[in-house]
Amino acid sequence: MPLDLGAKGSCHIGGNVATNAGGLRLLRYGSLRGTVLGLEVVLADGTILDLLSSLRKDNTGYDLKQLFIGSEGTLGVITAVSILCPPKPEAVSVALLGCAGFAEILQTFGTCRRMLGETLSAFEFMDAECVQLVGHHLHLACPVQESPFYVLIETSGSNAGHDGEKLGSFLEHALASGLVTDGTVASDQRKAKALWALRERISEALSCDGYVYKYDISLPVERLYDLVMDLRARLGASAKHVVGYGHLGDGNLHLNVTSEAFSPTLLGALEPHVYAWTARQRGSVSAEHGLGFQKKNVIGYSKPPQAVDLMRALKAMLDPKGLLNPYKTLPSQA
Ligand code: LAC
Ligand code: ZN
Repeated sequence: MPLDLGAKGSCHIGGNVATNAGGLRLLRYGSLRGTVLGLEVVLADGTILDLLSSLRKDNTGYDLKQLFIGSEGTLGVITAVSILCPPKPEAVSVALLGCAGFAEILQTFGTCRRMLGETLSAFEFMDAECVQLVGHHLHLACPVQESPFYVLIETSGSNAGHDGEKLGSFLEHALASGLVTDGTVASDQRKAKALWALRERISEALSCDGYVYKYDISLPVERLYDLVMDLRARLGASAKHVVGYGHLGDGNLHLNVTSEAFSPTLLGALEPHVYAWTARQRGSVSAEHGLGFQKKNVIGYSKPPQAVDLMRALKAMLDPKGLLNPYKTLPSQA
């Protein structure tokens, strides 16, 4: 499967496609907009739309399946998917590395892309507070020396020898040049899974910490962590934790703030500040999670009114009675 994500144990493929879920390997295999080759969709009036082709190339008119990918179930119900699956990699390695600062994380990413090339299949980052929360709430131990930032790097390829050599020389360089301060590598499945769990279960650990204010933002990668630091200064002791982690290789930050209980004052300090800040960087206020119910009214920070009007027109045409996933995605009418 070209898609993998922390929710793999409970999510459904129709939902993944309907929300255009990004996940952990978008860096390598691209988004579902590229890997989904065909769909079967049931429209609001009951029509079954058979777009279930498996062709790589098909320019016969508009690419209608793209309308339903990422539409969050508001235009139709996806009932079958044809998806392009890459060959299963022969050799997979996972490294967890510690970095002293965010600048080092960015440099590590550049070096990784250069030295690992096409074998790089994931580049995820998390800050120290994420790892503390996963340790505290889920009792997962981190095998790497405590540091301000961590990166999880995965390589997958067709030749364990060649791939291992590449990863080895990258790690040697990264350690010798001081880019990373400590690290561990796993090539067997059990150890690799344990390293992945530290990253994949952050969201679960956060939900054990109290009320969670969640933001899923696309930003220029150089500015990815600035908002986390800005919020720590802005919120001070009114927040329990302010954490940043996510799919750095895709420019996607998961910014989460926790407090003991929901606080309207804290929410007021977060919003619209977070959205306005993101819009100033020409980022997206929803990178991969979609707008749903909670974020539908902030679409304007990332899309012009003309685009929202066209979305409304499409919704009215395909679902005139508003039966499909009502009150989601599109902003409330003024
Ligand atoms: C993750 C989910 C929250 O990346 O998107 O862990
Ligand atoms: Zn994510």
